[in-house]
Amino acid sequence: MRHSLPVIDLSQRDGLPERLDAACRHEGFFYLIGHGVDPALRAAAFDAARRFFALPDTEKARWHIERSGIHRGWDPVAWQALEPGQPGDLKESFYLGVDRGPDDPLVQAGTPNQGPNQWPDEHQVPGFRQAVQAYEAALSQLARRVLSFMAQGLGLHARWFDACLQDPMPVLRLLHYPPQPPSEAVRPGQIGCGAHTDWGSITLLAQDDAGGLQVQAADGTWFDAPPMPDAFVVNLGDMMARWTNDRYRSTPHRVFNPHGRERYSLAYFFDIDYHAEVQALPGCFDEANPPRYPPTTAGEHIIEMYERTRASH
Ligand code: OGA
Ligand code: NI
Repeated sequence: MRHSLPVIDLSQRDGLPERLDAACRHEGFFYLIGHGVDPALRAAAFDAARRFFALPDTEKARWHIERSGIHRGWDPVAWQALEPGQPGDLKESFYLGVDRGPDDPLVQAGTPNQGPNQWPDEHQVPGFRQAVQAYEAALSQLARRVLSFMAQGLGLHARWFDACLQDPMPVLRLLHYPPQPPSEAVRPGQIGCGAHTDWGSITLLAQDDAGGLQVQAADGTWFDAPPMPDAFVVNLGDMMARWTNDRYRSTPHRVFNPHGRERYSLAYFFDIDYHAEVQALPGCFDEANPPRYPPTTAGEHIIEMYERTRASH
């Protein structure tokens, strides 16, 4: 059977919650079009990422993730293995979060992974900060809209998720995949990004035109999710599966970049409030289908996942 991802047009309001609900139940993955995000914002963020990654590693090491203590900044090729137990991924990345100063209430409270970003110098990557912040602002709005329609698809009030979005902690990850080397030059199983599920609520992924994203179908086979200009690839994370008591799928995916080209992508993980409780949503459980997971909080869940995927070397 040939698999492909559904396309959800956010500008077609008729039956939108129902179409979203079906995509989240069956694939846990879809292309989002009609989203209204200015293509120029996205192009500028890609451009900033390309210029950052073009710096020599010795320069990028000034913003090494291990200097941050809160998981912000640059992680070199093979620093992370998204598929636990596999060799490090053939990608480098740059993590940005909400840029919180010392007076921020979450920082004051000692909340893990909350604090300032590491910013490349303006003269080295001109306009970097402006470009990524404008992109993040647009994606935050978009993620809220998608969640609002998802709430309706779940039979909840459109503003149901707002209570968990008082002070969310979204993460923007700029990614760069070098071309996949010949097999004798890599360790067995070493690819752009190992098979994994995302961890949070929803991920909004922008990919360039290189290709390489693959999604696992329910029958276990892998299929390509080719680039679609201006679309976002949206997928659900483990937290959403847990929240919906497995009504929705957190679908495994990976990147294999075989076409001899550099590949860039922008992954926006819409992580909700640190202290938001995640337990089976109303309507997702009943006597015949009781909650399958103990309650947790969004923050604890994410921290646990970071620990699990640090490559051992
Ligand atoms: C991720 C991811 C895919 C890509 O960062 O979680 O799945 O295309 N990225 O970079
Ligand atoms: Ni992912």
